Amino acid sequence: MSLPMSPDEHLKQVLASFDESVNPRLVEILRSAVKHLHEFTREVKLTHKEWFAGIEYLTATGQKCDEVRQEYILLSDTLGVSMLLEMINYAASEKATEPTVFGPFHVDGSPHRKNGESIVDQTNDTGEPMVITGAVKDTNGKPIAGAELDVWQVQSNAMYDVQEGADWRNMRGIFTTDAQGKFEIKTVRPVDYTVPDDGPVGNMLRAAGRDKWRPAHVHTVVSAKGYIPVITHLFDSESPYLKNDVVFGVRESLIADMKNGKCHYDFVLDPL
Ligand SMILES: [Fe+2]
Repeated sequence: MSLPMSPDEHLKQVLASFDESVNPRLVEILRSAVKHLHEFTREVKLTHKEWFAGIEYLTATGQKCDEVRQEYILLSDTLGVSMLLEMINYAASEKATEPTVFGPFHVDGSPHRKNGESIVDQTNDTGEPMVITGAVKDTNGKPIAGAELDVWQVQSNAMYDVQEGADWRNMRGIFTTDAQGKFEIKTVRPVDYTVPDDGPVGNMLRAAGRDKWRPAHVHTVVSAKGYIPVITHLFDSESPYLKNDVVFGVRESLIADMKNGKCHYDFVLDPL
C-alpha cells in the first residue's frame, strides 16, 4: 500500500499543473501565490470555518465596490501592500522624492490650472487658506520647466469630492511648472481623515483593534518628460497621526510645515 500524499507532495502537484509555456509571467505569479497560500494555510492551521469566513470576507469586499468605492484598494492599502508596491516599483535614486501610496481617490482628467490658482471650487469650504509653493528639480538641483503636478486632497469636511457623488469635483488640479521650475497652488490646509469604515475594511480594522486615521496630506503625482514620475504626498507636520497612518504611507522626507497658511516643498525627479 502506498503512503498517503504529504502536503509538500500535494503542493508540488498543484505547482506542476501550471504550464509556463502558455504565459511565463502569469505562471510565475500564480505558482508563487499558490505556494504562499499553501504555506499560510499550513502555518496557521486554517479551519474550515475560518476558510469560509475568509471567502465571505472577500465576497463582501467585492460587493462593496462600485464606480467610486474601491474596497480592494483600501484593503491593499490597510494591509501595507500598496505602499510595498510603490517601494519595489519606484526606480528612482535616493536623491529623488520618496513615493507613497496612490490611494483610491485619484480621478483622471482633473482641470488644468494656472500657477497661483486655487483647487478649492466650493466657496463654502471652511478650511484654513494655504499656499503651496516650490519647484520641481532634477537630482543635480536644476529646475525642470514644464513639469506637471497632478494634485488632489480631501475637502475640509474630511470627505473626498467623489465620496459625495460620482460627478462631484472639488480640490483637484493639474499645475505646470514655469520657466524656473516653480509652481504655486492655492488650497486649504488639509485635515486628518478616516478611511471609509462602513465596509469589510472597517470591520477588519475594528476586529484587529487598529486605527482608521490618515494624517493630513496633499496628494500629488509629479511628472516631467524624460524623468521618472513620482506618486507621493505632502504630510502636515502637526498631524497627530503621523506615527500611525492606517495605510503606512508616512515618510520622514515627505513631512512639511503647513503652519501660518504656507507650505514650501521642492520635488526632485530622477532622469529616466
Ligand atoms: Fe488621501
